[in-house]
Amino acid sequence: MKAHLQNNIFQTISEAAEQLGIHAYVIGGFVRDIFLGKESKDIDIVAIGDGIELANKVSVKLKGSNVSIFKNFGTAMIKFGDIEIEFVGARKESYRGESRKPDVEPGTLEDDQNRRDFTMNALALSLQKENFGELLDPFGGLKDIENKIIRTPLEPDITYSDDPLRMMRAIRFAAQHDFTIEENSFQSICKNAERINIVSKERIADELNKIILSPVPSVGFKLLFDSKLLHHIFPEMVKLQGVEIKDGVSHKDNFYHTLQVLDNISKNTDNLWLRWSAILHDIAKPATKRFDKNAGWTFHGHEDKGSRMVPKIFADLKLPLNEKMKYVQKLVLLHLRPIVLSKEVVTDSAVRRLLFEASDDIDDLMTLCEADITSKNDKKVQRYLKNFELVRQKLKEVEEKDNIRNWQPPVSGEEIMKAFNLKPGREIGIIKNAIREAILEGEIGSNYEDAHRFMLAKGAELGLKPANL
Ligand code: CTP
Repeated sequence: MKAHLQNNIFQTISEAAEQLGIHAYVIGGFVRDIFLGKESKDIDIVAIGDGIELANKVSVKLKGSNVSIFKNFGTAMIKFGDIEIEFVGARKESYRGESRKPDVEPGTLEDDQNRRDFTMNALALSLQKENFGELLDPFGGLKDIENKIIRTPLEPDITYSDDPLRMMRAIRFAAQHDFTIEENSFQSICKNAERINIVSKERIADELNKIILSPVPSVGFKLLFDSKLLHHIFPEMVKLQGVEIKDGVSHKDNFYHTLQVLDNISKNTDNLWLRWSAILHDIAKPATKRFDKNAGWTFHGHEDKGSRMVPKIFADLKLPLNEKMKYVQKLVLLHLRPIVLSKEVVTDSAVRRLLFEASDDIDDLMTLCEADITSKNDKKVQRYLKNFELVRQKLKEVEEKDNIRNWQPPVSGEEIMKAFNLKPGREIGIIKNAIREAILEGEIGSNYEDAHRFMLAKGAELGLKPANL
């Protein structure tokens, strides 16, 4: 079988290899993606010889494209427009025992294919003139793609122990492409799950985020849970699983509920951090669970505790400890608030407060709340959704009237100091807070005149003298 290699770059690499008297192949994800009908910008080239030398030759032919050389790894990379081409010499390589450093020695194409993770990722296309574009598929990778099967080229125990991250990659590919992990392979993942602990947290986080960004992320999480990989990489999430019954009263299984919320939200957003908010919205339910004879199961304060758990979870998972984390904390903290607004006779001030606290993330918060409806009763779902529609309407009305969403104090601290001839001190904070509260409570409008008048009155109350008297 031959694949049509459209890009002229392949012709150039082919000529460079011929001039060096070596063989070269396109291999890995790029070839897999051709057969999956997907476009890829990352090209891996394996040379039966020196990959760096081949990269240098190609770079000269491409006139001026820069080569980055990673001598320690024996690899080189060329960026050509938005395409990245990585060159490596074929090798035999093995990660031994607990060590993260592989033993490497030059090898044949077959050696190189043997050491790859999955049959579909071991496909190679020849760049030799005589059989340009011919597929070399020693493990039936093409058939596995057709049957949507993830299979290792060698015994799964060998392939997974060479690099235990591959256990997560198997699950990630299953989630991304709706593939099934071949039974022996999955058994091997279950058996070797503990070895994920020798892999760097950053690499694990990369794969986890790809699973989260897949079309139906619960597929990946169920596999992570069933194989017990999740128990090693993200134990807080495992704690969500299970149902307790007391006096005949049970609560829902928060693990499967969370997965459903995640799937729901994934239909409406590709924002990784909004998806993370869905994963973490109920994370403190196990820690706050109580049984009350009258009320049944309660999880009081889980939104607050959950929000406070986020930094440690992010740190443990090596996720960024920046404004993305704060955004997730905010959504976890506020995730019950729109429900409250939908239930009671709501005052404008409650709506204003939520707008003030959520600010620009209010729409994402509503998206999270809507995803949080997981009742099996369709009538209930429709009713809740309608309620949230009303909440959105109220938010819009109040926002149009009061402009709270990106609220800036109408009177600045400097102006307060000037008005009362004050040096920086606690009075300024007191007056500023009082103005904000008065606006949120609806006692005064959110405008300069009202705020200025209120400031003078509040100052007088505090015994301050206006500067111009
Ligand atoms: N590979 C491997 N074992 C790993 C990582 C990668 O055998 N732990 C091999 C596979 O042959 C893979 C290739 O290296 O196809 C390139 O890896 P990478 O760029 O990380 O992933 P892709 O397979 O290209 O997939 P994606 O682009 O979706 O990450």
